[in-house]
Amino acid sequence: MSLPAAQPTLTGAAMTEDRKILTLQQFISSEEKLHPEATGEFSQLMRDISLAARIVSREVNRAGLSFILGEANLINVQGESVQKLDVYAENAFLSALRLGGMVGVYGSEEQDDVVPLAECDQRHGKYAVLIDPLDGSSNIDVNVSIGTIFSIYKRISVQGAGNLEDCLQPGLQQVAAGYVLYGSSTMLVYTTGNGVNGFTLEPSLGEFILSHPGLKLPAKPRFYSINQAVMADVSEGLKDYIVDVEARNASVDKPLLNARYIGSLVADFHRNLLQGGIFIYPGTQKKPQGKLRLMYEANPMAFLIEQAGGMATDGRRRIMDIAPEALHQRTPLFIGNSSEVERVMSFIVKNG
Ligand code: AHG
Ligand code: MN
Ligand code: MN
Repeated sequence: MSLPAAQPTLTGAAMTEDRKILTLQQFISSEEKLHPEATGEFSQLMRDISLAARIVSREVNRAGLSFILGEANLINVQGESVQKLDVYAENAFLSALRLGGMVGVYGSEEQDDVVPLAECDQRHGKYAVLIDPLDGSSNIDVNVSIGTIFSIYKRISVQGAGNLEDCLQPGLQQVAAGYVLYGSSTMLVYTTGNGVNGFTLEPSLGEFILSHPGLKLPAKPRFYSINQAVMADVSEGLKDYIVDVEARNASVDKPLLNARYIGSLVADFHRNLLQGGIFIYPGTQKKPQGKLRLMYEANPMAFLIEQAGGMATDGRRRIMDIAPEALHQRTPLFIGNSSEVERVMSFIVKNG
């Protein structure tokens, strides 16, 4: 049995052919040139994020060998057991941003309170970063794709280190948002409000290469993502929507919407972004606000999906309009093709 040919890795020679290979660094610089007032600080911040992403990617791909699987015997502010890779990712992003000096305050799923940075140097540190350093923790030990989600604001405070107020801004104030997907390949997907672009890590070069320019949701959704296990506990309107999906599927030969639910928001979101769909993490009778966090899961994904032509609500309100009250506050999330998000909302409005 002949083995499949190994995927050719990009080498120097390949890099010089006239292939349109644009690295993330080149892309960031070209975007910076579009803003004459740019100081280069945002570009530096993106480089810091890219560095941390590559460090985490290397570790994720080695996890089996570096014995960092399994519980870290720590419990985070969410009351969830923290996996070692969560701690590793948290440390990688926090130190890259602290050393980079562009961030004045850092809010993370893994930290009870915001972390002021760049205390001494007020010239720098003009950004606030909210982050879920390792999304999909429950999938680490079963080798399923996981990710990092980040959201970037300009600070409100101008003196000294940043504070909680800098972090609790509505999603509409984001200057950038994105995620890293540690899957069969590692991708960085982000927006600065000028469309969505995807970069794939070329490990042989250690560079993110532009692979998905100008990402837009396909007009026709293909998937619906929801944890079927909670359906008994959700609103009547959402139950009616799922019945509606099943009826639409039954009315044609091949299902219109296939069910796909990975348990890592970044992976479910990425598949739906590329192939069309809706992801739902609802509130339930027991947990009316659901599970996902507004500041570092829902808001950044909402910015991305709107930039890609879709919609994100909490079932009634636009996610990015929500005025945050707490760093770790949760929100129900309905996100994806506008046609499906509007459809489920119509059932919720009608039947509660
Ligand atoms: P995190 O690992 O950062 O806590 O996020 C996990 C989230 C999200 O990635 C995923 O969509 C959701 O939890 C899955 O939750 P259930 O296991 O309750 O379905
Ligand atoms: Mn998460
Ligand atoms: Mn997480």
